[in-house]
Amino acid sequence: MTARSSAAQPDFSAGCAFMDGAFMPIAECKISVLDWGMIRSDCTYDVAHVWKGRFFRLDKHLDRFLRGVEKLRMQLPFDRAKLEDVLSECVRRTGLDDVYVSMTCTRGRPPAGVRDPRQAKNTFYCFAIPFVWLATLPQQEAGLHLHVSSIPRIAPESVDPTVKNYHWLDMEMSLFEAYENDANFVVLTDGAGNITEGPGYNIFTYNNGRWATPDRGVLEGISRQTVLDLCRELNVSAQAGQLTETALRNAEEILLTSTAGGVMPVTKLDGKPVGNGTPGPATTRLRQLYWQKHGDPGWSSPVKAA
Ligand SMILES: Cc1ncc(COP(=O)(O)O)c(C=O)c1O
Repeated sequence: MTARSSAAQPDFSAGCAFMDGAFMPIAECKISVLDWGMIRSDCTYDVAHVWKGRFFRLDKHLDRFLRGVEKLRMQLPFDRAKLEDVLSECVRRTGLDDVYVSMTCTRGRPPAGVRDPRQAKNTFYCFAIPFVWLATLPQQEAGLHLHVSSIPRIAPESVDPTVKNYHWLDMEMSLFEAYENDANFVVLTDGAGNITEGPGYNIFTYNNGRWATPDRGVLEGISRQTVLDLCRELNVSAQAGQLTETALRNAEEILLTSTAGGVMPVTKLDGKPVGNGTPGPATTRLRQLYWQKHGDPGWSSPVKAA
């Protein structure tokens, strides 16, 4: 009898993860309940995406992630080049073309009985799973219904929102409020009449030929930056600055931006139509251009070969 290997190939079709130096099917990737990422939200993460086999603005995601890791005084087990290789390998193993790619660094755990975060060994993991849409395509075609939450966004003086984080309870509870108000999306104020952001997205308003997006109390989203860059290319005015709730309620068009969905039109705000209640022309133009750039080598890059 000939000896044959009976080891089955792992199935990465639902996703591939990397942790502790090894690649594994997503369902096998586990983290300790004692990790401070779990018990203290002491972590930072980033999400990039691959569309039709190409990473979109990966450099910007890596810049933001590495900046966040540094700001939180954490250390990755390897350098940026290796991080990029590991992310690419996760994507390759899934065999998918449209992929959601997440990377996280948590505080990890200090030795038993020690409470000093400086003594913790940080945990890194990342994974690639099928593309995630914040709003389904039919929802995006029709436009989203947005609610302005009564719960203010956590103050930027308390938790730095430019370090992408899991302090989401204000946004999660706001979502419940939105659903109770017949809306499917929510945006939070700063508690002083200014708009910030929502769970997983930034917001833009369009009025008198100008796009505006909040510049304070928000994650500096890569999709938000993309809209600002596209506007520059189109010679359309777009500025990050103060955005009041009143300005939001008077907007001709509203859109949300996220890596998990791109540029998404809002057509109803707290039950009232935005503009004529259908996705506006300025939004539609940006949405088309956003996806068009995914094949452009100036904006996207192929997943690296093994
Ligand atoms: C709180 C928050 N704001 C904004 C965004 C949008 O950022 P990006 O465009 O980089 O996906 C996200 C993405 O997850 C987010 O979590």
